[in-house]
Amino acid sequence: MLKCFYIFKDKSSSRRRGESAPELSNESRRNGNSEGNRATRSTGSVSSPRSIPEMYREREQNLRVFTLSELKEATRNFNRLLKIGEGGFGSVYKGSIQPPNGKGDPIVVAVKKLNTLGLQGHRQWIAEVQFLGVLEHPNLVKLLGYCATDGERGIQRLLVYEYMQNRSLEDHLFNKAVPVVSWKTRLKIILGAAQGMAYLHEGLEVQVIYRDFKSSNVLLDENFNARLSDFGLAREGPAGDRSHVSTAVSDDNVRFCMDAEFL
Ligand SMILES: Nc1ncnc2c1ncn2[C@@H]1O[C@H](COP(=O)(O)OP(=O)(O)OP(=O)(O)O)[C@@H](O)[C@H]1O
Ligand SMILES: [Mg+2]
Repeated sequence: MLKCFYIFKDKSSSRRRGESAPELSNESRRNGNSEGNRATRSTGSVSSPRSIPEMYREREQNLRVFTLSELKEATRNFNRLLKIGEGGFGSVYKGSIQPPNGKGDPIVVAVKKLNTLGLQGHRQWIAEVQFLGVLEHPNLVKLLGYCATDGERGIQRLLVYEYMQNRSLEDHLFNKAVPVVSWKTRLKIILGAAQGMAYLHEGLEVQVIYRDFKSSNVLLDENFNARLSDFGLAREGPAGDRSHVSTAVSDDNVRFCMDAEFL
């Protein structure tokens, strides 16, 4: 199951541990959505579940840390012809990166470049990296790595994902330029999305509340498998003596989101 966590285990080339974003680890330690509320971990074998930040710290080395120039090269300087989408947090570009060990064919990726870097955007960027650094399931999008630089020209936060060839479910439902999918394929997509959700709720030692289930976040791979994406709003579910999770608007300045077509 953890196979993919080791895919970038080769430390020889582009992974640069020393350059990983410090706020990811710092945030892990003080992240109030988990450890502070958790029952003290037992030192014995029967312990309370680990939090996402704790799990992330164990696995962070599996994410690649890219430089901005690597991602500029990957996207031909964020060429607008390579732009494949735009969301609330920025633009998404198709790109191509070298494999981790430098051998083999280039890997096609989607690079998301955040442009709203208020506190909120930054917090969601951290959540995205921490959740997707831990979660692994065939119906979840795979985060390959990230770039975090605070240079003279401002703060840059980017995310690098596996490229999903068939875009999003939203495109197939509402974009007239994209072919309509058959009912059989729709069913496959719905079942895949449900399996992804079941994994979030029951497949880990912590429960994950997704909070952003909508058709533009159901990406589709080359075989039209559903791959849930965007975990910036995700939260850990109740654990130990904490019996509820707040989804209050004031918490995030966003609403709990589910598209009408899913209801
Ligand atoms: N890994 C990916 N592979 C292929 N296309 C992608 C990938 N990630 C995102 N996209 C494309 O980029 C679009 C924008 O994605 P993004 O997550 O930034 O915003 P959104 O989900 O559409 O909106 P919002 O910001 O409101 O969540 C998606 O709808 C999809 O078409
Ligand atoms: Mg999205």
